[in-house]
Amino acid sequence: MAIENAHWDVWADIPRATISPNIYGHFIEHLGRCVYEGIWVGPDSKIPNEDGFRLDTLGALRDLPTPVLRWPGGCFADDYHWEDGIGPREQRKRSRNLWWFDEDSNEFGTHEFVEFCRRIGAEPYICANVGTGTPTEASNWVEYCNATRNTHLVQLRRDNGRDEPYDVRYWGVGNESWACGGNFSPEEYAGAFRQFATFMKGRTDDIDLVAVGGLPGNACPDDWNQRFLATLDAYQKPPLPALVPRLMDHLSIHRYFYKFVGPADEDFTDAEYYDLVASSLQVDEDIRKTSELLGYYAGVDDRIGIVVDEWGALYDQGLRDAGWTQRNTMLDAVMAATTLNVFNRWADWVTMANISQTVNELQCLIKTDEDRLWLTPTYHAFKLFAGHMDNQVLHDELTTPELEVTQPEAGTTGMPLVSTSASRSPDGRELVMTLVNRHIRDSIETVVRIKGDSRVEAGRLEQLAGDDVRAQNSADEPERIMPTHRPLETPANEFALELPPHSVSSLRIVLG
Ligand code: AHR
Repeated sequence: MAIENAHWDVWADIPRATISPNIYGHFIEHLGRCVYEGIWVGPDSKIPNEDGFRLDTLGALRDLPTPVLRWPGGCFADDYHWEDGIGPREQRKRSRNLWWFDEDSNEFGTHEFVEFCRRIGAEPYICANVGTGTPTEASNWVEYCNATRNTHLVQLRRDNGRDEPYDVRYWGVGNESWACGGNFSPEEYAGAFRQFATFMKGRTDDIDLVAVGGLPGNACPDDWNQRFLATLDAYQKPPLPALVPRLMDHLSIHRYFYKFVGPADEDFTDAEYYDLVASSLQVDEDIRKTSELLGYYAGVDDRIGIVVDEWGALYDQGLRDAGWTQRNTMLDAVMAATTLNVFNRWADWVTMANISQTVNELQCLIKTDEDRLWLTPTYHAFKLFAGHMDNQVLHDELTTPELEVTQPEAGTTGMPLVSTSASRSPDGRELVMTLVNRHIRDSIETVVRIKGDSRVEAGRLEQLAGDDVRAQNSADEPERIMPTHRPLETPANEFALELPPHSVSSLRIVLG
């Protein structure tokens, strides 16, 4: 049966909100081969490097671009002691890596992380240890990174080779505190958050603090956010004590798209493809619910942003016993692009998002093997969306065909097959439009209408599809799945676009 067309109307003159570049952020953890091997090989490695950082990884992340990078975890963060990772590298002691069954040489510490961020053009986002740490340790870390006074910690930073402050703006106060972060109750975490945040912020507002929120599932109580915000609210009701700035700037949530689809060498079925693709729509509901609670407790004028600081696909190969390295196909590109469209649409609430995890592990963008590096379809999907950063998301209306999808828990629902978002550049001269066709086998024609006073003068289309949804890029075949580019044949305010099966498309439209 032929699939109906989709229709997409976009109002070029009705901007809704600015898309934070940080929505296109990333997350690295001391897990598997993400940091060690994927990013850090050390200055003496045979693998080409710049002061210990892999040259090819630096180049790939610079090219994306990478606006913000979260580190050191994840679960790892709540058992990480930053002072183990500073000073002469050869003198750093080895410590346990509790969650990921490993040891850590501490070669990659604060200086290496912030330096790596600078080299790829990313803002550093550090997650402080609440689980086994103290407010002293966390506030000392902020001081070590950012202060300019003549304290012993600033002197220590200088002795370790860095005179100027690092000016790290984003700080997480723990990670998944409802589980690996310490098995707190929301009320206990609210108390810990207040205490840590008071001393991390001190009397300034020049850092942004991210509190740990949670979503139902994965050991998190269903009402974590509500109970946390209600408890915090009791202590945060204005007027705040005069010396204390607002403690929480963002609330984090994590969303993994879980599917344990069998051994690593086994392909997913069509039903599993649709189950995963449908589950990636869940993030829309996650953001809606979280924004309602934040609106209630914190208000919408001086709003607290939502930070989705871990998200992505998690398959059985991504579990620790299987080595964390999972397949990355057009299924992953479709899920990533769907999620990025959702984030763009919620640009008024989502202040940051960090896909998990940048190199080698989980839904990574880059894979490495010894001195070889290749890019995953997820990397290419991100690149197709890069033009949205700092643009204004536009008002639109989408009519899309649906497909009945049966999921083990949700039952049978109509899944919209096309997902979109559109934005306008700050100077109003360019539109960026991204579209996903989630059908595994069929193309969908989409009729696009650009409304408003501007005339479409030219356009360029980039598409990522690949002939086989199950194919992957690899060291031997790094360009098996690559985007194609072409100009829009008949630029006009109304045109039809063929969206190939399981594809991601990006249009750059020049307005006159
Ligand atoms: O990304 C792997 C783990 O998943 C992180 O350490 C943790 O925060 C999440 O549960």
